[in-house]
Amino acid sequence: MTVSLLVDNIGELVTNDPAIGAGSRLGLLEDAAVVVEGHRVAWVGRRAEAPAADASVDAAGAAVVPGFVDSHSHLVFAGDRAQEFAARMEGRAYSAGGIQTTVAATRHASDDELAANLARLVAEMARQGTTTVEVKSGYGLTVADETRSLAIAAQVTSETTYLGAHVVPPDYADEPAAYVDLVTGPMLTGAAPHARWVDVFCERGAFDAEQARAVLRAGQAAGLQARIHANQLGHGPGIEVACDVGAASADHCTFATADDLANLAAAGVAATLLPGVEFSTRSPYPDARAMLAAGVTVALATDCNPGSSYTSSMPLCIALAVREMAMTPAEALWSATAGGAAALRRDDVGRLTVGAPADFMVLAAPSYVHLAYRPGVPLVGAVYRRGQRLS
Ligand code: NIG
Ligand code: FE
Repeated sequence: MTVSLLVDNIGELVTNDPAIGAGSRLGLLEDAAVVVEGHRVAWVGRRAEAPAADASVDAAGAAVVPGFVDSHSHLVFAGDRAQEFAARMEGRAYSAGGIQTTVAATRHASDDELAANLARLVAEMARQGTTTVEVKSGYGLTVADETRSLAIAAQVTSETTYLGAHVVPPDYADEPAAYVDLVTGPMLTGAAPHARWVDVFCERGAFDAEQARAVLRAGQAAGLQARIHANQLGHGPGIEVACDVGAASADHCTFATADDLANLAAAGVAATLLPGVEFSTRSPYPDARAMLAAGVTVALATDCNPGSSYTSSMPLCIALAVREMAMTPAEALWSATAGGAAALRRDDVGRLTVGAPADFMVLAAPSYVHLAYRPGVPLVGAVYRRGQRLS
């Protein structure tokens, strides 16, 4: 028998249903209630009209928002790079080369060590309200290590991304073309059964436009969908490649021209902004206002990884997006929930509507605005994923 749960006395409910509430994509409802049946939302509305349920919890006037959809992370790795971070804070620049440090540590780690580190980070995310997470490979860079990275990631999420084209590993330093052949050949064959997405780091020092196109096209031919690391460290062709191949999302977009933004909007490619990277590498933030003005779908994600952004916190990303990228609190929350879902081509998660998975959190605050207004404060209370309380 399916058990129902009434979440009652919600002071402010964010549904992300534009049909609810006037003038905001957040679909706000005051004095609201939600009924969960099994793992899905069964009813949403004014609390005075709520149907009876088997059990109830009292939100005590707090805000309830959809679970965060963190659409970009690199959680399968070993070790950390705290010394590299400390050196950066003393003035050293971030470079793609640091990835090799993590590749070496990851190759040496056992499957159990990688799985335990992944589980630790996913649990850390869940405590901060993340209920859907995308996880990339990319610190193995051999057929066996990329394949096992994705097999391990697939145990915690269906949003797995093959990133064999993260950087050219030292073993192929003199023959990058042979490495691209490996990535588009035997490594793809090993990875594809465990992956939904294919990704490439298109950047000076990583892969150029031609290589990036080859990687994404090969992944698509193997049944994967494309996403890309684009325009992170400088102006480059990554966004163009994303639009050419019909990627779901171009991620970073820190250095983008007006033409790039017009192309993203026309091609329906989301821009996934990762402000934890700019924060942790002390770099200029992307121009979110220009993207929104150009009609680009903007997602926010952590990019959690041991090099450029070792945060698992979507609330931090929301606070940075508001303070540093001039997004409104409403835009930032939408981008961290429905925007992330769009970047993953998901129309089920990122919203609280009838039939959707019951993924949500109760905030220790009367309004979602507090996520940006009270940065660094642990406002995420009870978190529910598929109707089950996680924390
Ligand atoms: O998204 N840009 C490439 N990959 C990661 C960084 C990985 C690392 O530094 O280890 C990123 O920022
Ligand atoms: Fe990344």
